[in-house]
Amino acid sequence: MTVVASVGRSLLGLEGISRPALEHLLARAAEWKRAMGDGTLKPVLGGRFVANMFFEDSTRTRSSFEMAAKLLGAEVLNWTARGSSTSKGETFLDTVRNVSALGVAALVVRHTASGCAQLAAQAVDVPVVNAGDGTHEHPSQGLLDAFTLLERWGRLDGRTVVICGDVLHSRVARSNLHALRTLGARVVLCAPPTLMPAGFDALCETRHALDEVLEDADAVMLLRVQLERMAEAFFPSAGEYARRFGLTAARAARMKPDAVVMHPGPINRGVELAPEVADGPRSLVLQQVANGIPVRMAVLERACA
Ligand code: CP
Repeated sequence: MTVVASVGRSLLGLEGISRPALEHLLARAAEWKRAMGDGTLKPVLGGRFVANMFFEDSTRTRSSFEMAAKLLGAEVLNWTARGSSTSKGETFLDTVRNVSALGVAALVVRHTASGCAQLAAQAVDVPVVNAGDGTHEHPSQGLLDAFTLLERWGRLDGRTVVICGDVLHSRVARSNLHALRTLGARVVLCAPPTLMPAGFDALCETRHALDEVLEDADAVMLLRVQLERMAEAFFPSAGEYARRFGLTAARAARMKPDAVVMHPGPINRGVELAPEVADGPRSLVLQQVANGIPVRMAVLERACA
């Protein structure tokens, strides 16, 4: 698949986006977060509509794009596949073209198929924001994860981030790999051999056991085991997976004293992440969710400028 980082003001992925461009978006997100805190928000998208088009389920991304748009003064058209004319056979491209024809300022698109956001961007004349396309990218998640780590550390240079779990099916891993490395972090991908994409060992550091990298990590980002994208068995059982790749309380106790734990959600509690670690003092999980709002405000502001 041809990967295009952005078509005009669309945001289709983080691959290929320069460090200054990432830093500019993240700085705008920080300004929006400050404005949310001190009550100085400006309705820069007043009188405009943003269409949320989710062809795949979501809790965090859909909700925070909606809140981000509304905090910027926009109205939100929440289109969902359920109840739409896709049940009558209307195609993906006809659907996005028709919603675009309603006069919206931007489309936020999530789909199970890799490349759908790019297809949409080529089919309509309004900006498209990729809210997660198959196993390809989830750029606003990569941005909010980088934002959360920058808030904690100030800079990412010299920091080690271990991304552990179902890398094969993870658009979050791909977007984070691009963003975190561009911003200066060392990224180590850790997965069972069956869940590591072919060729990734030439692209970045890879490991096949969490215990090998745990003590190096300034942050461990766990990935959800995506059972819905697995047509075959990639590991013997959830228990076996958790024993080798799960961040248990015992493993968390071996991390650097100030190292942090992240997860994009939804969490398979007890599989990739123990409940007491997910809810414990190292966890940034809910800060990641909250930061989704100012980061998506910056993304929508850029799209609709
Ligand atoms: N992180 C994330 O994309 O969560 P949702 O699927 O709930 O949007």
